[in-house]
Amino acid sequence: MRFAVYGLGPIGALISKVAIARGYEPIAAIDIDPSKVGRDLGEVIGIGEKMGTQVSGDPRVLYEVKPDLVFHATGTWFHSIYRQLVHAIDSGADVVSTCETLSYPYYRYPELSNLLDEYAKTRGVTVLGTGINPGFLLDSLPAFMTTSMAILEEIVAVRSLDASKRRAPFQKKIGVNMDPGEYKQALASGKLTGHVGFAESVLLISRIAGLDVDRVEEGQEPIVADESISVNGVEVEKGKVIGVVGFGKGFVEDKEVIRIGMKAGIGFEDYEEIKLLGEPEITWRSTGTHGDLGTAAVIVNMAPRVLDHQPGLVTMADLVKAGYHIV
Ligand SMILES: NC(=O)c1ccc[n+]([C@@H]2O[C@H](COP(=O)([O-])OP(=O)(O)OC[C@H]3O[C@@H](n4cnc5c(N)ncnc54)[C@H](OP(=O)(O)O)[C@@H]3O)[C@@H](O)[C@H]2O)c1
Repeated sequence: MRFAVYGLGPIGALISKVAIARGYEPIAAIDIDPSKVGRDLGEVIGIGEKMGTQVSGDPRVLYEVKPDLVFHATGTWFHSIYRQLVHAIDSGADVVSTCETLSYPYYRYPELSNLLDEYAKTRGVTVLGTGINPGFLLDSLPAFMTTSMAILEEIVAVRSLDASKRRAPFQKKIGVNMDPGEYKQALASGKLTGHVGFAESVLLISRIAGLDVDRVEEGQEPIVADESISVNGVEVEKGKVIGVVGFGKGFVEDKEVIRIGMKAGIGFEDYEEIKLLGEPEITWRSTGTHGDLGTAAVIVNMAPRVLDHQPGLVTMADLVKAGYHIV
């Protein structure tokens, strides 16, 4: 597979490394950061060898090299990456993107989703938004696990993670070391995002497990450090934001059938826990999944499936083919 990477922050760099290690060939790299443009991809992602592919600031490079697939990792909001996706589609490439709101785009962007779906179909390409979360841990994974339920009443999935092990942009978006009031304002104004994707995950579960959720709720708030701490070189002062806690809920006729939660903060325990209520009841717990490498892995692992899929804007619900389902 000949691929391009669009966005070379920590996640785009990791995706490139995982893809190159798989034997896929990088033929283009795009970023707007002037400190990266013009340099060799291998140097920018720090793999200690040149790849012979220079980072370009102009996405039209895609039209010249015509990759099979574009790995896209520049932003969270579908409306602000729409033009970037169109560049990739115009080059004839399939796309796998880390954009959180693209993981279930019909929730926040129904019109834009229909537009992109039509456009991708006319160009014969497939576009998928996914990642570790949203995309896998709190949606595809619990939904897939419902396959072994004879009667499914409720799905509860929780993720807790130590943000000291995550990349700097992640620590920034969850408000680490900010004044709690300032962080709440930054969340409300959209200046910082916290975690985006609770509603998307709930709706992915609903689609995969056939639950027909008719209402979604989501929310998040900062957690304040009750003492000064230092973990893995990250210091947080007492009274400042140490992390964030949030939830997503899905209802069918006012009955809560899906509840997901996430806690991310400096020094927090790493685990995922999934409880499936009904018959038979299941509780599954892990020791945690590294979110950055996990994201790169999900993105690269979905690439062959996207290449094989029929054209259009798809979600993990089109690709995860098992789960509880009433016809
Ligand atoms: N679904 C998931 O599970 C998941 C997991 C991890 C990350 N993500 C998302 O994936 C994205 C990438 O993460 P990250 O931490 O690597 O973010 P990041 O540090 O913001 O990196 C994004 C890179 O893309 C560049 N960029 C921004 N706009 C661009 C444009 N129009 N054209 C070309 N390049 C552009 C940025 O340049 P500048 O720095 O100059 O702006 C930066 O180099 C984020 O939106 C993140 O929220 C999703």
